[in-house]
Amino acid sequence: MKTATQNLEHDHVYILQLTEIMQAMVEKQVNNIEHFELVVNLIRKFADGIHHAKEEDLLFPKMGEKGFSPVQGPVAVMLSEHVQGRNYVQGMIDGIEMLRQDDSEGLEVIYDNMDGYAELLQNHIAKENGVLFRMADQVLSDDEQSSLLIQFDEVEAEVTGEFSTASSIAKITELAALYL
Ligand SMILES: [Fe+2]
Repeated sequence: MKTATQNLEHDHVYILQLTEIMQAMVEKQVNNIEHFELVVNLIRKFADGIHHAKEEDLLFPKMGEKGFSPVQGPVAVMLSEHVQGRNYVQGMIDGIEMLRQDDSEGLEVIYDNMDGYAELLQNHIAKENGVLFRMADQVLSDDEQSSLLIQFDEVEAEVTGEFSTASSIAKITELAALYL
């Protein structure tokens, strides 16, 4: 990968696949707590923990230096959608807890929040790929893209083990083989 935005778009391929898996799980009325928890962990550790950290801690502040406000405009919209995504994940966790307490309504809570997350993230990623990252490409120099990419590598290197980028992608691929 040559640029920081290409690195993020590469993550998007797998995050999008995860949202398609979530929609398929709802469609197939899956009732598998282990897989629900795996999806939550993949979102928290990969989509939010690694990918959104690269955006929120590195790309967006760099865009801030170029005049993109964190409180209004496109970066602010992206940040508020990350928060909405976290609320859906909390909803999934609440639903899983209800299932654990033998409350069968937990399943509907999980499905509603999985559908909500999937639709939110699909629209969100379309906006980042189509608009925000293209703006970033226009305002960032080659050197700035390269130094962001080095910092992204450092973020990824910090997460080892079960939910490193490579392991997360492998887990998403396994779920895709089961559900898609
Ligand atoms: Fe993103």
